[in-house]
Formats: sequence, structure tokens, C-alpha cells
Amino acid sequence: MPELCVGERRWAVPNGSNLLDALNGAGLNVPYSCRAGSCHACLVHCLEGQPADALPEALALDKHALGWRLACQCQVVEDLRVAVFDPQQDGVPAQVCAVDWSGDVLRVRLRPERALRYQAGQHVVLWNGAVARPYSLASLPGEDDFLEFHIDCQHPGAFCDKARGLQVGDELRLGELRGGALHYDPDWQARPLWLLAAGTGLAPLWGILREALRQGHQAEIRVVHVARDKAGHYMAESLMQLQGVTVELVLAEQMEEALAGLRPSSRQTVALVCGAPGRVERFARRLFIAGVPRGQVFADVFVEHA
Ligand SMILES: Cc1cc2nc3c(=O)[nH]c(=O)nc-3n(C[C@H](O)[C@H](O)[C@H](O)COP(=O)(O)OP(=O)(O)OC[C@H]3O[C@@H](n4cnc5c(N)ncnc54)[C@H](O)[C@@H]3O)c2cc1C
Ligand code: FES
Repeated sequence: MPELCVGERRWAVPNGSNLLDALNGAGLNVPYSCRAGSCHACLVHCLEGQPADALPEALALDKHALGWRLACQCQVVEDLRVAVFDPQQDGVPAQVCAVDWSGDVLRVRLRPERALRYQAGQHVVLWNGAVARPYSLASLPGEDDFLEFHIDCQHPGAFCDKARGLQVGDELRLGELRGGALHYDPDWQARPLWLLAAGTGLAPLWGILREALRQGHQAEIRVVHVARDKAGHYMAESLMQLQGVTVELVLAEQMEEALAGLRPSSRQTVALVCGAPGRVERFARRLFIAGVPRGQVFADVFVEHA
């Protein structure tokens, strides 16, 4: 049986064990979310030995070459020495500078101890004590002197339960920063831009919307925000204040009807969609029926802890 070694600890695991399960089975508390190679919450550093990696392309070549691996995608097939992310040592401390509730949605602003270089649409792994989950950045780099996150606290959950008690002055830690499919491309300036969000899926799209306006987007911008109830339209006021942006606030029970009315004004329309998996799938299907080519639809899914 191959051996795993983390710090001073060394133990044998069955050949072919999933690396994430083997580390967590030994009580190392490696965070994870999607278990599918997309959120990067489970990043670990392999210092000696090579695991069998089912998805090497999920990491940048240089990062992979340095030994970084997504533990959820790796199997232990030989002896490995691994360093796991230690939020106290490796995480960037960030202090809560504002908390704001709208229904079940918590908008929290953080001031990191050192500046984070990011782009609108990216997400970061937030550590609250020993609990870590990925959350999208809603702030705009270069414009906001804080990082903003929109946290859906409707359901019980390890992170949400702790987030409900957050107060100004509390400290969180920032872990891995990662970009998904959502971004703003300056080449889109003359093309209609549709932003379809469900719940807190609005967070990355809010950053991208402001990025598009900052870059002087010339064509139509349309925002569709689907929420469970009125309080779930937590950005309504800010959205309505924007000039030249068409905003539709839709309740969940009216979603199908609202989506059925989507008619792109041009074949060039680009659509960015975000939210829980079921909603994103509905958005994508409707966009396809409306004639928006698949290659012009960019989606990030808030996969929950598996
Ligand atoms: C790339 C990415 C970006 C994301 N960005 C955001 C974001 O910007 N905003 C956001 O709100 N979320 C976002 N998420 C989702 C987020 O990371 C968490 O998965 C989610 O908030 C739940 O975390 P949790 O620890 O509170 O719940 P977990 O403990 O992980 O539980 C997962 C789910 O299980 C259910 N559950 C857990 N315990 C119970 C129980 N006792 N009874 C009934 N049901 C239960 C709940 O539905 C809960 O939501 C993102 C996810 C990904 C992958
Ligand atoms: S990439 Fe491994 S848990 Fe998401």
C-alpha cells in the first residue's frame, strides 16, 4: 500500500484511494465543494511523488508542473508527500468592514490585509475558521477598495450557519482565487450583452456588469434576475440606478414565462448566466431555443458541497 505523508504524519492508504478522501479521512480538513475539478477549493501541493490525475488540464501548466493538484481528481498510486493549505499560514487575512442583510442574502464586504489581484467574475475560497467554501466576487477591481460577496443563507449549511453571525471587525481568510467561465471581453463592446442570474448568482454578474460599463459597452445590456421572493431581489435599487441597462426582476414562479419571452435582437448576442445548477440549466436551454448559439453562452454554476 502506498504511503501518504503530510508534515510529520505518515500513514498507508489502499492503492488507488482518492487523495481528497484519504486526506480528509485522516482528519486534515481539506476543503472541497464541487468534487468535479471546477471550484479549485481542494488544491494541494504534492512535494514528492506523483498521484494519478484524472483532470490535469484543470490547472495551468506551470502550476501543475510545480506540483499543485486538485485532490478531488487524484488517486494515490505511489508514496506521496503533500502540503495542504493552511488558512492561518497560507491564507490572506481579511477583515469584515460591512454586513448588510436583504431577506436571506448576506452582502458582506472584506478588507484584505494585502491587495488581491482579481478580475470581475472570479471566485475565491473563503475560510471562516475551519470551514471553507468558494464564493464569487461581486466587487470591481480598481474601483472598490473592498471585496464584496453575496452569500445565500436560506438553507442550513456549514458556512452559512457561521456566516449568519458575522459582524464588522471579524476576520476571515482568503484562499485560492480562481476564474470560471464568467468574464467581460472588450471585444464584446458592440454586441448585445445579456446577464441572467438566479439568486446570489447575481454576485459575479454585478461585477461584470460594472466592468462592462466601465469599459464603455456600446450595445444593449440586459439583466434578468430571478429570485424566490421580493427580498431576494437584493440589488434592485442599485440595478435600477444604472443608465442604459434594461433590468427585469423576475420571481421564481414567473421564471418560465419570463424566459419564454426572451428574443435576442442580434445573432451576436453574448449571454452570461450564473446560479444554482437547475436554474442555470433552464437559462441555457431557453437561450438555445431563443437562438443564442451555445458558444456565446458562458455559465458558472454554484455547485454545492457534494
Ligand atoms: C465556483 C462557485 C462559486 C460560488 N459562489 C457563490 C456565491 O457567490 N454566493 C453563494 O451564495 N453561493 C456560492 N456558491 C455556493 C457556496 O460555495 C456553498 O456551496 C453554499 O453556500 C452552501 O455552503 P454551506 O457550507 O452553507 O452548505 P453545506 O454545509 O455545504 O451544505 C450544502 C447544502 O446542503 C443542504 N443542507 C446542509 N445541511 C442541511 C441540513 N441540516 N438540513 C437540510 N439541508 C441541509 C443545504 O441546502 C446546503 O445549502 C458557489 C459555489 C461555487 C462552486
Ligand atoms: S475542484 Fe476539487 S472540490 Fe472542486
